[in-house]
Amino acid sequence: MNKLNDNQLLKQYSYINGSWHSSETEFAVVNPATGELLINVSNAGVIETELAVKSAKSALKAWSSKSAAERAVLLRNWFNLMMEHQDDLARILTLEQGKPLAEAKGEIAYGASFIEWFAEEGKRVYGDTIPAPSGDKRIVIIKQPVGVVASITPWNFPNAMIARKAAAALAAGCTFVGRPATQTPLSALAMAELAERAGIPGGVFNIVVGEDAKGMGKVLTEHPDVAKFTFTGSTAVGKQLIAQCATSVKKVSMELGGNAPFIVFDDADIDAAVQGALVSKYRNAGQTCVCTNRIFVQKDIAQAFTDKFVAAVAQFKIGNGVEEGVVIGPMIAKNAVDDVDKLVLDSVKAGAKVLLGGVRSPAGDNFYQPTVLTQVTNDMPVAANEIFGPITPIITFETEQEVIDMANATEYGLASYFYARDIGRIWRVAEGLEYGMVGINEGLISNAAAPFGGVKQSGSGREGSKYGLDDYLEIKYLCMGGLS
Ligand code: SIN
Repeated sequence: MNKLNDNQLLKQYSYINGSWHSSETEFAVVNPATGELLINVSNAGVIETELAVKSAKSALKAWSSKSAAERAVLLRNWFNLMMEHQDDLARILTLEQGKPLAEAKGEIAYGASFIEWFAEEGKRVYGDTIPAPSGDKRIVIIKQPVGVVASITPWNFPNAMIARKAAAALAAGCTFVGRPATQTPLSALAMAELAERAGIPGGVFNIVVGEDAKGMGKVLTEHPDVAKFTFTGSTAVGKQLIAQCATSVKKVSMELGGNAPFIVFDDADIDAAVQGALVSKYRNAGQTCVCTNRIFVQKDIAQAFTDKFVAAVAQFKIGNGVEEGVVIGPMIAKNAVDDVDKLVLDSVKAGAKVLLGGVRSPAGDNFYQPTVLTQVTNDMPVAANEIFGPITPIITFETEQEVIDMANATEYGLASYFYARDIGRIWRVAEGLEYGMVGINEGLISNAAAPFGGVKQSGSGREGSKYGLDDYLEIKYLCMGGLS
């Protein structure tokens, strides 16, 4: 941490109502690559979370009364500051989360791009007029901010997942309370410092950091002053949070787990497919919900694809993300390594063959070797579960319908990918995949202009794009009568 250009970005306290709040106890933030203590952070809980909701409620009237253009100026300042401090923000992110520095820099730019996008998009919240059923009436539609937005975000994207939600909320005129993951509070607090410098008024953007996930989550999902709750994380936790939100009928958006298929057809450009699969599988050591989870390759090209893919994965440098050239950093914690190891062992017992890796890495307790498995079937543990680690199962198939059926045979429906050239096939497969997002000859689909989100048990709502504002707006219908 001593290598930051601006040490003021390293914060230890929750940011509530425009000031930094200490609590009685502290918790440790640890570098997952080395196990070293980075810093102790003040441990906020239920009381601080309630205070943050109260502050967001008090700030709502003034913030929502500003014009979209006024809010855009402040959001644009925030975007500029994030990009000015990209190196420091990336360093903080790598140290607390583990991803390689180059990827962390990419995440800062990605997170900032949502702030830039929504600063502009907020100016385009148009209403509507609708022809009325009788001449004495007029029907007018206006859109208004939902109110106080609460969020819980994960450790895998400590900056971008907050930015994607907060930018849309603030642009729409809502105020925001965020609880980042306990493992990665520092990136969120650095964002709060920059929000303050950008001139975003106290109470509009609040960050509470603490270990009491249950207690804080209860406040954020059940508090009557919270109008909307948004979550990124696992499907299992998402279901519990949706149930909690039901008690006060909150507007909810959920970005949950995935089991992304990556299909390579026999007419595909194999080299391009290998590149797409590498980036979509091994980004963040496989710890993203849009990471490829299962590769399906058509029988005739399976050997050619697999040889090239394995040769490329074998080149990956694994290690501490701050080291030059590292492609695969640590997993977030030892129990995550245990989980992927078990998936691999159980699948090997069921008949899968290890082509590469398949073991823990000597780089440290939290590292797992990038792994490729063949002779996998769709019902093996490594294919049926969300892996969230650097493991690639390869499954072969013969026909288009067979692979669409296998790809869809999961409760998840977030991201999917396929490589093909035949235009008829491209449309059939794109329409046949039961997923919210389909990468066609493309392995990296996330960006601020596109609607990110899933179907089935992968969630509801969309983030980013022109659609991303809708989740933070209410439609109000004005019926004007007596006009004849
Ligand atoms: C996620 O894993 O939750 C988000 C990944 C992305 O935005 O690309």
